[in-house]
Amino acid sequence: MSKLIVANWKCNPSTLEGAKLLFDSVASGTKDIKNSEVVICPPLVYLSVLKANGAQDCFWEKGGAYTGEISPEMLKNLGCQYVILGHSERRKFLGETDEMINKKVKAALSAGLKPILCVGNSKQLKNGLKGIENWKLKIENLVVAYEPVWAISTTKGGSPATVENVLNGAAFIKEAVEEARIIYGGSVDSKNVNGYILKAKMDGVLVGQASLDSKEFIKIIEAVK
Ligand code: PGA
Repeated sequence: MSKLIVANWKCNPSTLEGAKLLFDSVASGTKDIKNSEVVICPPLVYLSVLKANGAQDCFWEKGGAYTGEISPEMLKNLGCQYVILGHSERRKFLGETDEMINKKVKAALSAGLKPILCVGNSKQLKNGLKGIENWKLKIENLVVAYEPVWAISTTKGGSPATVENVLNGAAFIKEAVEEARIIYGGSVDSKNVNGYILKAKMDGVLVGQASLDSKEFIKIIEAVK
């Protein structure tokens, strides 16, 4: 099965020109890649201009009086396929709760999007998936990202998770959701990516910092062979 390589640009870059440049150079550097599915999740303001296939968040309602929110239907209608939900930065800085994230996962699946649910422990997984165990067909669209908070954004000097950390840490996800694809996120780069895919048997990776450097991101994709 092809591997899923997800770029999470977070709150970067600060201009549309910068976003276009990054997007175009990744697109041209990966046009011949066949064994991986590449998902780019830019900030929402750039999504429709770039025609990107991923978003970093969405709301749980279809529409209505919810200032500032973007519905899963809007993303779907723009041609977007994937949406990251429950990222630890949103839990920490925006106060997102398991209950909110659970509503978002359900809404995204109902709209035909593929949610990438980020979790660091079994409680977040259980609560995030509450009530959707029987959505047999739709749950195949689910991706779960194992993201231990201590391994995120350490590209500038910290230590990313070891293969053993990921093997042991993601075991609870494999047990709970056999149907879903499971990916790893946290300081992934072109040197450590293959360990996570080949040795820790992940179905892909979620890349933050390193996805902002098109050369490094292309190297990551090329390394997944
Ligand atoms: P990082 O981010 O690669 O910069 O650690 C990963 C993430 O937060 O998803």
